[in-house]
Amino acid sequence: MAHEPRLYEELASWWPLLSPAVHYDEEAEAYARLLDDACDAPPHTVLELGSGGGNNASHMKARYAMTLVDRAPGMLEVSRRRNPECEHVPGDMRDVRLGRTFDAVFVHDAVMYLTTRADLARAAETAFVHCRPGGAALFVPDAVRETFRASTHCGGEDGPLRALRYMEWIWDPDPADTTYVADFAYLLREGDGEPRVVHDRHVFGLFGRDEWLAVLRGAGFVPEIVPLSLPDLPDRVLDVFVARRPR
Ligand SMILES: C[S@@+](CC[C@H](N)C(=O)[O-])C[C@H]1O[C@@H](n2cnc3c(N)ncnc32)[C@H](O)[C@@H]1O
Repeated sequence: MAHEPRLYEELASWWPLLSPAVHYDEEAEAYARLLDDACDAPPHTVLELGSGGGNNASHMKARYAMTLVDRAPGMLEVSRRRNPECEHVPGDMRDVRLGRTFDAVFVHDAVMYLTTRADLARAAETAFVHCRPGGAALFVPDAVRETFRASTHCGGEDGPLRALRYMEWIWDPDPADTTYVADFAYLLREGDGEPRVVHDRHVFGLFGRDEWLAVLRGAGFVPEIVPLSLPDLPDRVLDVFVARRPR
């Protein structure tokens, strides 16, 4: 693995202060509606690939039996604490094989960490082999090549014992390749001590709509792009890839 963000390794326990689950309620509801519409019968079992701290799952588990796969043990631990009723499995979305199928497969922003088309194709194949015929997979990248914008965001929360603030600086060092970066500066404070500062680079994959559609067709899906506006992202429309597995 070329590069693993510190956020998912030694800083994983800080995740709930960087990205609180409460911010995901409307978003998770929108994804669940898309999954319900895409499957040929109401889905009951859902596999999430790259489930991270389990924020979407903390809302979606009310309607589905969820199996959560992530490659970072620290993030799985955060999710286990939030979602003890969900099944958690360590694994990489490029090659994990659970030996069973689900009504639907959900891949949220974790898909951004696939930086080559070959890796994207491997994840699409993983989703396909775990999706029952007549079911569907949802892929929700933060950006596709056509929607990418350099930008800056900040946020963070206070917890009972510690607090975090961050600045995220999204930019593209080389517009000719298939990646861009998010440079994060975290300010991490324990108790009322002096905050420490950590820099963390996240490298994201960037693919055009046609590349996405070709990869999903190559895996065997019948894909379409559904534009989605979210209240938390007023200035952006997400391209959601809804991929049906034919009967
Ligand atoms: C931003 S977090 C996901 C948060 C999630 N959307 C939620 O609702 O909490 C991204 C996660 O992707 C995981 N990840 C990145 N690449 C992966 C891969 N190839 N296979 C599995 N997990 C991966 C990281 O370990 C990290 O936990």
